Amino acid sequence: MPAADPRDRPIAVFDSGVGGLTVLHELLVSLPQEDYVYLGDSARFPYGERTPEELERFGMDIADELIARRAKLLVVACNSMTSAALPALQRRMLETTLGIDVIGVVRPEAAQAVAVTRSGRIGLLATRATVASGAYERAVAAVDPHVDLLAVACPDLAPLVQDPPGGDLFTRELEDVVRGYCAPLVEAGVDTVILGCTHYPLVRPMIQRMLGRHATIVTSGAALARQVEHVLGSRDLASGRAGEGTYSFLCTGDAGAFRALGTRFLQMPLTEVEHVDLAPSPNAEVPAWPRP
Ligand code: DGL
Repeated sequence: MPAADPRDRPIAVFDSGVGGLTVLHELLVSLPQEDYVYLGDSARFPYGERTPEELERFGMDIADELIARRAKLLVVACNSMTSAALPALQRRMLETTLGIDVIGVVRPEAAQAVAVTRSGRIGLLATRATVASGAYERAVAAVDPHVDLLAVACPDLAPLVQDPPGGDLFTRELEDVVRGYCAPLVEAGVDTVILGCTHYPLVRPMIQRMLGRHATIVTSGAALARQVEHVLGSRDLASGRAGEGTYSFLCTGDAGAFRALGTRFLQMPLTEVEHVDLAPSPNAEVPAWPRP
């Protein structure tokens, strides 16, 4: 039975796979009284190699599914999707759902990084799609146009974290890959580094070691959780519950694989994972993008 009081509806969180569980983790800690539904679009992973048109279309498919499940707020826990499609998703939700809010991960992180940097030189590690979008440059410049951003695309990192060869994540090979991506940032002497992909917090200690102790790492989770709290407060949508809420999982790929990987990202027990096939959204005006 769908909840009659909109405050009792779940917050929906989504990503290309399990990476967004690092954001859900933060939400479960910061706003434990809320209910959550998480969707991992693992059948179409990695988003980091997708075009903006594809990402916009995928975002609409997912939004339709989550709205049908009575979500009161959509959280895009994927930097690639946020960078490419957040304004379009916000526009469409405003037009088609009587104003369900959609919030994403880029802006809160950019604001936090600008607040933290002393040298005015920030580094960014992110997927190819996120770097190509220029979304972080714009978000940083909107807060302070005198802060420089050095962006490094890390095409191999999210796939290695999501699906480590042989199942073993923390290998020398991974260390070499991470060192390679960090090298330009170390050379440029940035003092603050944004982890611009929700998969990367899993290898944060390794990244910190490569960057050095002096570098401050900024991730999406905590800043985004604060923004969720503000949205719920301003819309009078915060749950009035005193105890803990529930959380559940949907994925478009193999539910068993999602379950096996997910616990490590969530750092909490995973409940049932339901497989869903997403219907193409009638709201998506962009044409299907032919893949090679
Ligand atoms: N978790 C996605 C992000 O935050 C990246 C992984 C992918 O390429 O799908 O950008």
